[in-house]
Amino acid sequence: MSWHATILTLFPEMFPGPLGASLAGRALAEGLWRLETADIRAHGLGRHRAVDDTPFGGGAGMVMRPDVTATALAAHRRADDARPFVYLTPRGRLFTQADARRFAAGRGIVLLCGRYEGLDQRAIEATEAEEISIGDYVLSGGEPAALVLLDACLRLLPGVMGAAASAEEESFAEGLLEYPHYTRPAEWEGRAVPPVLLSGDHAAIRAWRRAESERATRERRPDLWDRYRQGRMAGRHADSAASVATA
Ligand code: ADE
Repeated sequence: MSWHATILTLFPEMFPGPLGASLAGRALAEGLWRLETADIRAHGLGRHRAVDDTPFGGGAGMVMRPDVTATALAAHRRADDARPFVYLTPRGRLFTQADARRFAAGRGIVLLCGRYEGLDQRAIEATEAEEISIGDYVLSGGEPAALVLLDACLRLLPGVMGAAASAEEESFAEGLLEYPHYTRPAEWEGRAVPPVLLSGDHAAIRAWRRAESERATRERRPDLWDRYRQGRMAGRHADSAASVATA
């Protein structure tokens, strides 16, 4: 059985969207993963298929009804479904590479895209949803976040990217940002490629790349740098440092 993504959304036409192109699109066509979109509105109430209502206690915006959302979920996720159920919300825990690895290693995922005013809290609790945010900014809905989360998982599925991805993975798995890349021409508009990369000295190239990775991480992401250093000082190996750094 291929990796199975189910998306509960008010805008099913947004999928597969960009995931229908490039590597994910080819993998979808080849059956390496399967996409099911579920229109929450199909479970809406009354003639207007209402899915939301005004917030108790007052305030702006609308809140997604717990009954409608739970019914939609039950229609697309059987009781014995082993896939994680994720609700995309700016109130969630930040999404990391460690999450992408965990989701990609399973059978698939069930995603609920909310409007940003959110889902009734009781439905979040009753369904034991894992609340995930893709970053500290507010999107107009969970759909773009679902596309981002899926993209990060899909490229890790066996056969989607091949060997190139696994090599790159190892580098980020250590909790460092990547070193900079260069290709031909060796000199462009007066800018030369760092000479070590043309030296043919593989040990020197490895050392230079490592130093550049560390410098970029230290300068740009002090949060990652601290965790990386803590992991090293604790004498863990690269892989356990990685799960800390990217958790
Ligand atoms: N919905 C709105 N903003 C979001 C975010 N930053 N992450 C996940 N879901 C969202």
